[in-house]
Amino acid sequence: MNGRDLVRSVKVVGSAGAAQGLRTVRAAWRRKRADAVGLPQRGAERARVPGPVRGVEPGSGGGVVRFARSELRITVAVNGAVFWGWDGAEPEPSYALAGRCPEPDPRAVLEPDKDGGWRVVAERATVVVSRHGAVEVLTPGGVMLRRDLPPRWWEPVDGGTARWMQRSEVAADARFFGLGGRAAGPRLREGTYRLWNTDPGRAFVPGDDPLYITMPVQLVVADAATHLVFHDTSWDGVVSLREGEEGAGSGHDRTGSCELRVDGGPLRCWVMVGTPARVLHTWVSLTGAPALPPAWALGHHHARWGFGSEREVRRVVAGYQERGLPLDAVHLDIDHYDAHQVFTVDREQFPKLPELAEDLRRDGVRLVSIVNAAVRAERGNGVYDSGVAEDAFVRDASGRLVRGVVWTGESVYPDFTHARVRRWWGGLYEERLAQGFAGFWHDMNEPMSFTAFGESTLPRSARHSLEERGGDHREAHNVYALGMARAGFEGLRQLVPQERPFILSRSGWAGMQRYGGTWSGDVATGWPGLRASLSLVLGLGLCGVPYSGPDVGGFDGSPSPELYLRWFQLGAYLPLFRTHASSRAGRREPWTFGDDVVEHARVALVERRRLLPYFMTLAHLARRTGAPYVRPVWWGTPEDRALRDCEDAFLLGDSLLVAPVLDHGADRRAVQLPRGRWYDTVTEEAYEGPAQVLIDAPLSRIPVLARAGAVVPVRGSDGELELEVWAPARGRVGGGLVVPDTGDGWDEPEVERYVARWEGRQVVVRRDGEGGLSEPAYPVRVRGLRTP
Ligand code: NOJ
Repeated sequence: MNGRDLVRSVKVVGSAGAAQGLRTVRAAWRRKRADAVGLPQRGAERARVPGPVRGVEPGSGGGVVRFARSELRITVAVNGAVFWGWDGAEPEPSYALAGRCPEPDPRAVLEPDKDGGWRVVAERATVVVSRHGAVEVLTPGGVMLRRDLPPRWWEPVDGGTARWMQRSEVAADARFFGLGGRAAGPRLREGTYRLWNTDPGRAFVPGDDPLYITMPVQLVVADAATHLVFHDTSWDGVVSLREGEEGAGSGHDRTGSCELRVDGGPLRCWVMVGTPARVLHTWVSLTGAPALPPAWALGHHHARWGFGSEREVRRVVAGYQERGLPLDAVHLDIDHYDAHQVFTVDREQFPKLPELAEDLRRDGVRLVSIVNAAVRAERGNGVYDSGVAEDAFVRDASGRLVRGVVWTGESVYPDFTHARVRRWWGGLYEERLAQGFAGFWHDMNEPMSFTAFGESTLPRSARHSLEERGGDHREAHNVYALGMARAGFEGLRQLVPQERPFILSRSGWAGMQRYGGTWSGDVATGWPGLRASLSLVLGLGLCGVPYSGPDVGGFDGSPSPELYLRWFQLGAYLPLFRTHASSRAGRREPWTFGDDVVEHARVALVERRRLLPYFMTLAHLARRTGAPYVRPVWWGTPEDRALRDCEDAFLLGDSLLVAPVLDHGADRRAVQLPRGRWYDTVTEEAYEGPAQVLIDAPLSRIPVLARAGAVVPVRGSDGELELEVWAPARGRVGGGLVVPDTGDGWDEPEVERYVARWEGRQVVVRRDGEGGLSEPAYPVRVRGLRTP
């Protein structure tokens, strides 16, 4: 047991009582014993490298290069992504891929290269394989983006899963992003990042790694091009990154490096090259379009662990209403369950939940329910009984049910890697729908099991179906929550086919965007936690998960009014805008922080509501293109190095640049602007980028800038859609897209395109449609006209 485990176990024992403490000790021993008998012992190993090339076998989209001790399959897919796999690894089966693997591009062929190597030339990248198995990815112009050295395997002498290691070099100027949700990002500096979904067991700060969502997805941004590389294996691993250094013209550049060590599974990867927008588009065409949230989910959510009763929920909602503060959803945590059991209700404190849900819905507020992964192991608990009848729960190598410990005590875990179990679980949401819930919040699905020592999850030897291929928790762990999200999503599609499911999942893996979004998890209250909140949203967006947001105000403790307000102001511009906190933390309603905070929070809430049509448009565009709503400021100009290093601001779509206040006591801040003209949206003052400018940030607001020429759909005071247009610079043409959608169904609204241009002394906006230019059907308001 390491020091941190000890602290955690003492906390668990202390906070949840001696009985629970004892359970965690028992569970820890059980896990240890299960692994002692159920896991193959690591004996002697043999190291292997591919060896020299022996021959090739061309095929559609590439082919197979044979080496003395391995073989490498390379296939360029029609979407431009390049796949390669060692030792016979193919793209499927894969938990990340959505549906069928894309067809090979018949234009790509394997050709001989210099020094006995081979290459495949594709439209967006050239892949060169050396005669010893190094693999280089080059731009079509021949600039090297990534060089994978020949991999190395360690194989158990008596058979079994091989560990492997892949070392790569990237350009000296390259920057790493991604790897799932990392608190210390979004730029991933030198360090090691583990690939094992983990509940840190306490509120986390930027140094904590790994967290709930890890993904072997790296986005690498360099002058020559951006590339995304995805190592499609769900096994535990470690990525060690080191940024390169440029020798200031001395010719002594040091390349950046990445070393990936994985405990098992296939060594295979996908690489896509291009601009950030193009790369993300290819990524979601491979792993699935981000689910579209219902319109209400783009508003403001208020959650709390420990509302404790219907009365308290009504009191908090009334607090919002009396003060005229917009509210769209309330989340009920485990305290509304009967003894913390999933899919149950505490009838004493929540006797009329459907009625409450209906009353709230009448006022435009949806109810969202937490859904925990583990099920209390007790006869008489309906979910347990039906799960046992269904043979739904994870078993150990000897066939016994694996028991862990969560809030509700000893619990069992559905095996979400089995289609039959997913169907059973998906059907259980019927009970939640009958209670009036409109959305779902999956928790503790790393999966988590409280423990007195060792890992806070299932034994590694626990058996899983893995779509009936069979395997153990070493392979299933990282995709467990992905399976749960799929179960919930598919269940809801059956139960309420007319509505778009709303699912937030704390844990997940590559492809999770197909089913919904996520939130920060238990981010620590404090200024570093505020920074981590932005880092997580940006990093996840670059891994294809565009909908997320933090616990505004932080999960634990009590933020100062200033910190709460700054968090609230940031949250108002993030896709998920939700206040939430632990049952032991202070309040998070805006009015508990004093009159000034209420007034400033109101401004943020009203602005969020005004921007809803813009958020909805971004959600539709994310689904169609993979572009996250929240993007790093370098998104459109990755070659701008000053922007590449900027981590304290973001672009919200193409039109807005948001510069949150992340430091205590700041009343103005420096903002790094991309090229072009930008207007302060409050003062309408114009700034010319690229530049760094100082902008006022009084407590009443954070700087938000609009790009000259932007056409932003907003909600007018009458609730109808309006176009807010920011004057283009003279001689320039602006524009924007609008997807008018206020619903929660499946209608496919048309994407409307608008252009804005100067005509004489006026800025005129026209819709650019099939029949040519026409008058917009919405009122237009032009801003930024003071600047010549
Ligand atoms: C952990 C989650 O991260 C948190 O959001 C939730 O409030 C608690 N579990 C209690 O359910």
